Amino acid sequence: MKIEWYPGHMRSARLKIAEVIPTIDVVIEVLDARLPNASANPVLESLRGQKPCIKILNKNDLADPNVTRQWVQHFEQSRLVRALPLDARNRKEAGQITKLCRQLAPHRGKPGKPLRVIVVGIPNVGKSTLINTLAGRKITRVGDKPAITTAQQQVDLRNGILLADTPGLIWPVMDDPAIAARLAVSGAIGDNAVDYPEMAWYAINMLSARYPDAVKGRYKLAEPNPDPQQQIEQIGRKRGCLAGGGEVDTPRISEIIIRELRGGQLGRVSLETPDDLIPITNEP
Ligand code: G4P
Repeated sequence: MKIEWYPGHMRSARLKIAEVIPTIDVVIEVLDARLPNASANPVLESLRGQKPCIKILNKNDLADPNVTRQWVQHFEQSRLVRALPLDARNRKEAGQITKLCRQLAPHRGKPGKPLRVIVVGIPNVGKSTLINTLAGRKITRVGDKPAITTAQQQVDLRNGILLADTPGLIWPVMDDPAIAARLAVSGAIGDNAVDYPEMAWYAINMLSARYPDAVKGRYKLAEPNPDPQQQIEQIGRKRGCLAGGGEVDTPRISEIIIRELRGGQLGRVSLETPDDLIPITNEP
């Protein structure tokens, strides 16, 4: 589904979060573990001020575990931040959030003093999935983007924690081409708004440098080709992805590569490490 980037939507979503934050004890920020920098928006840092924050490195099942460890260390340099790699669909894993909330707000979560949390993040990172898993039932329709609910209701998790049931929606910042490319490759932005050959070029260029064995293994190549375009064509030929005249059907093979990467068929792959940090300073 295409995301509509109306400045009015962004402004009102931001105002809604700003209104709720003062009543919140712990902010749960959902990030994509494969791109924890690109899937963040600095507006949240300023909105949450001194509120403690759990950074969920979600879709951890798709990310490179070694790189995710580096991200956890990176985020936990901040006193008020804990980072938790997670598969939001897994109830047992999500249960760890409760423990972290209590550590971050030890004075709350008692009778008469509920611990209030909100789940915030850009579209498609898994906010609704996480809310449903924590609540143990379907609260918002998974896959609905942007959030459809306007009224801010609370779900009692019956363990002293109250969860705002509307995901706080913030938008990614795509001023930097590398950030935009990582977001597109991950599936965070609507497929109608992206160009598969461009994404495949970016993905193959990155994968050949960082995960050459994954590329070789998946596409049965003797060696990765240093030229991403030639590499994509080679994969297209191997897969019989040809257009009229025997030319490689670049859009089709590009889409296949991106879908396989997103689906985990190239193994667990991260699109950025803390060493690639590109400061994201512009707010949408
Ligand atoms: P949002 O509220 O932040 O917009 O995200 P949402 O929960 O709708 O999740 C977006 C997509 O990501 C969904 O897939 C969801 O199943 C998937 N997802 C969420 N958490 C995880 C995770 O930890 N690991 C993996 N691999 N996927 C996750 P979808 O195909 O759009 O919807 P559906 O077919 O699952 O309904």
